[in-house]
Amino acid sequence: MAENLRKKSRKAYKAKDSGKSNKNMNGTQTSSFGVSKRENHNSEKFYSSKLYSGYNKGKVKEYRENPIPKSFLSKIFCKSSEDMSELPDESIHLMVTSPPYNVGKTYDKDLSLEEYLRLLKNVLKETHRVMVNGGRVCINIANVGRKPYIPLHSYIIQIMHDLGFLMRGEIIWDKSASAGTSTAWGSFKSATNPTLRDVHEYILIFSKEDYSRLKNGKRDTIEKEEFLEYTKSIWAFPAASARRIGHPAPFPIELPLRLIKFYTFEGDVVLDPFMGSGQTAIAAMKSGRNYEGYETNKEYCQLAQNETNKEYCQLAQRRIKEITEQRKLTETV
Ligand SMILES: C[S@@+](CC[C@H](N)C(=O)[O-])C[C@H]1O[C@@H](n2cnc3c(N)ncnc32)[C@H](O)[C@@H]1O
Repeated sequence: MAENLRKKSRKAYKAKDSGKSNKNMNGTQTSSFGVSKRENHNSEKFYSSKLYSGYNKGKVKEYRENPIPKSFLSKIFCKSSEDMSELPDESIHLMVTSPPYNVGKTYDKDLSLEEYLRLLKNVLKETHRVMVNGGRVCINIANVGRKPYIPLHSYIIQIMHDLGFLMRGEIIWDKSASAGTSTAWGSFKSATNPTLRDVHEYILIFSKEDYSRLKNGKRDTIEKEEFLEYTKSIWAFPAASARRIGHPAPFPIELPLRLIKFYTFEGDVVLDPFMGSGQTAIAAMKSGRNYEGYETNKEYCQLAQNETNKEYCQLAQRRIKEITEQRKLTETV
């Protein structure tokens, strides 16, 4: 009963925010045989089944958002993200990151699995504190090793559940179009010991407290074609060149760009607690969002700062050009 009332008030709340009326809310129901039409789908029966009885299904909490002090807005902090005390509680709309994989890269510390998961948990706990209700968290991770295979993604999902995040889904990033795909296939053309060659990574997606976000007068910037593509759970684009970017494990800018357009509104704040070369910050700037970053390695911190400064100059030059052309146009009219 309380659950139904909660859902009804959530629907009314959303309808009000989007300017849509309440009609057509009955919709279709989950089919007990096969799959029925998805549009306007009423899935209450499914979500109240025993499968979901122990699951956190999200709460509609009062939305609060605390502003980040101006001197800290769009900054990269050269320190561990286990402490993000520069950021107020409930101030971030989206977190996009790729954590260290603890696999012997120059910045890795050779931690035991337990120590490594503790580091991730500390950072993700801080992330929970700084996210607004409804804020999204996107974690790019690959599994590592073969004998045995260590499924880092499943450990992260468990940590996120323990911290109370709601899982929204996972994207398989298909990187098979990248140059230099591994040929470590084990026993070639023999069942002796053939091994899988991972041509994918994961992007795990979560929300804090609520699945929805209110627009509050902000603007979406995603195009129709992009939306149709990004709602699919497999994304295919090549990996980035470490040499070109100057960092041992950068993700391509396409990755944060897509997530930012898909999950945030213009003017929102995007956090990357493992900033590396600054791809998330550059993607945020390109799409009219603010950013916050943390990075422990001084060299990469400097690299990220240089890259964001370059992007700032390019954006400013483009803006000046636009204004000059606009002026010329009005003068001729
Ligand atoms: C996989 S890389 C991120 C690469 C980044 N996505 C990019 O595109 O360049 C992980 C980064 O986390 C940094 N790092 C490791 N431990 C950290 C911590 N406790 N706090 C902040 N950064 C950390 C490493 O120095 C490394 O640059």
